[in-house]
Amino acid sequence: MEYLDMVVNETLRLYPIAGRLERICKKDVEINAVPIRQGTVVMISSYVLHGDPQHWPEPEEFCPERFSKNNKDSINPYMCMPFGNGPRNCIGMRFALMNIKLALVKVMQTFSFQTCKETQIPLKLADQGLLQSEKPIILKAVCRDGIISGA
Ligand code: HEM
Repeated sequence: MEYLDMVVNETLRLYPIAGRLERICKKDVEINAVPIRQGTVVMISSYVLHGDPQHWPEPEEFCPERFSKNNKDSINPYMCMPFGNGPRNCIGMRFALMNIKLALVKVMQTFSFQTCKETQIPLKLADQGLLQSEKPIILKAVCRDGIISGA
């Protein structure tokens, strides 16, 4: 379960479903000499932050160990925000994480997955809306015990 948690975290780092967060500026401020007027919509790209090589060595590599017990405390919470941050972060975060893990455990107990000729490699992302693949992700499901059951 510990490794599953690391895998889910790393997947959401590489593929944050909501690739950007938005906030409305409540009062005039200046940050790093950039003035931001009250009422301005400020967009934060979690997708870009999650791929920043200054914070994530080899950012394109899938490396669950980034989120291991030893490493995870050193992660800046503002550099990893698949569920947003602050008082208006995702209200369904715990529910979503529990369901992702339950679904993965249930499926992975019976099947392993392999790429096949229909699998798009490298995976390409669509350029609109919520983060998703350009094409459906097609994989070959292989029964772990080699027996094909009708269940
Ligand atoms: C993997 C699954 C999910 C991801 C990655 C996700 C991500 C997010 C993100 C990034 C935000 C914006 C947070 C911010 O601006 O700081 C958000 C908001 C929200 N999410 Fe999720 N979410 C997920 C699942 C769910 C589920 C299952 C529910 C409900 C059962 C849910 C309900 C909400 C609600 C109500 C908000 C608005 C919260 C507010 O404005 O106060 N989300 N989510």
